[in-house]
Amino acid sequence: MSKLTIKDIDFKNKTVLVRADFNVPQDADLKITDDTRIRATLPTLRYLLQEGAKKIVLVSHLGRPDGKVVAKYSLKPVAQRLNELLGEPVKFLDDCVGENIKKDASGAKERVVLLENLRFHAEEEANDPNFAKQLASLADVFVNDAFGTAHRAHASTEGVAHYLKSAAGLLLEKEIEYLGNAVQNPKRPFMVILGGAKVSDKIGVIENLLPKCDAILIGGGMAYTFLKAQGKNIGNSKLEKDKLDLAKSILAKAGQLKKEIILPIDNIVVENIDPNAKAEVMGENIPEGKIAVDIGPKSIALFEEKLKAAKTIVWNGPLGIFEMDAFSKGTREIVKFISGLSATTIIGGGDTAAAVAKFKLEDKMTHISTGGGASLEFLEGKTLPGVAALTDK
Ligand code: 3PG
Repeated sequence: MSKLTIKDIDFKNKTVLVRADFNVPQDADLKITDDTRIRATLPTLRYLLQEGAKKIVLVSHLGRPDGKVVAKYSLKPVAQRLNELLGEPVKFLDDCVGENIKKDASGAKERVVLLENLRFHAEEEANDPNFAKQLASLADVFVNDAFGTAHRAHASTEGVAHYLKSAAGLLLEKEIEYLGNAVQNPKRPFMVILGGAKVSDKIGVIENLLPKCDAILIGGGMAYTFLKAQGKNIGNSKLEKDKLDLAKSILAKAGQLKKEIILPIDNIVVENIDPNAKAEVMGENIPEGKIAVDIGPKSIALFEEKLKAAKTIVWNGPLGIFEMDAFSKGTREIVKFISGLSATTIIGGGDTAAAVAKFKLEDKMTHISTGGGASLEFLEGKTLPGVAALTDK
């Protein structure tokens, strides 16, 4: 990495401002339903404590409160969970800037302090320099471990790095290393699995990865715009009409570059998207009135046949509506299949990570990103502002 990491800094007696991504899902009672992102930050926090940091001042956002205090987006439940996971008392303060917060954070007897949601202040997302300065004034050094938010140029991810020596935490470093290596120096064959609802969400990834990979396997709602572009009937399946020409040009470009684009050859179809709807298997041409909700058994076999030779697999986007058990088979079978391969398997965050977690095969993947939007932007080849702002080595 060309940026400082926490291994390059002496933390003895230092107060460290750590930006984490504690944007975790909660149920209606505000119980945290998936604490992966909190666990993912523990190695950095433990390292800083072992290295003699005087204090860790943690900051994060949760949800999108749009610059207002919204009780359900309080980070208080995170402080409690972090306390349990870290095995170290965590002091929670009910704001993130101001003289009182500064005093309470530095005066706290606990070594770890978590401040309230940054996005309760509109200045955070506006990347306001004064807000960034106030955050910087809380510490001697800044560590960014919030890979999931590294694609946002906000005060706590980008702005603050202009006022303090700034280094990548272990999670941020690991994410960049795994995602970066998979794409820059892949062991071949390098295959990319793309899914999810929309072609428009994945154009950047296709454009960046098509020249680099050996094949792209496409499922999910986005597959049907490609099938339509090939002249197939897709019934009432998801179609982005304005992306048809783009799909055609991607297919043509793949041909010129001698890269394979593999599309479903059969589908699970229904009349309405409803978990109890009667589902049928249908071949490449889907009649009017039917909607594809998953790839079919022949497509699963085809995908497996292609993937078995892969040495590197990057996957972003589920292959069907996996949240509904009846339409989760395609995604589940492919998750299961690649979990048994010796290939390097890199799973983009968000829905794809949720799918792997649903099938309880997290331990079998080489790397599961904690960033949804961030991993997508990284795979698009974009510079992440939260990384770019860190101090050069
Ligand atoms: C995420 O969950 O993708 C990150 O925490 C970023 O959240 P945001 O999309 O609200 O900026």
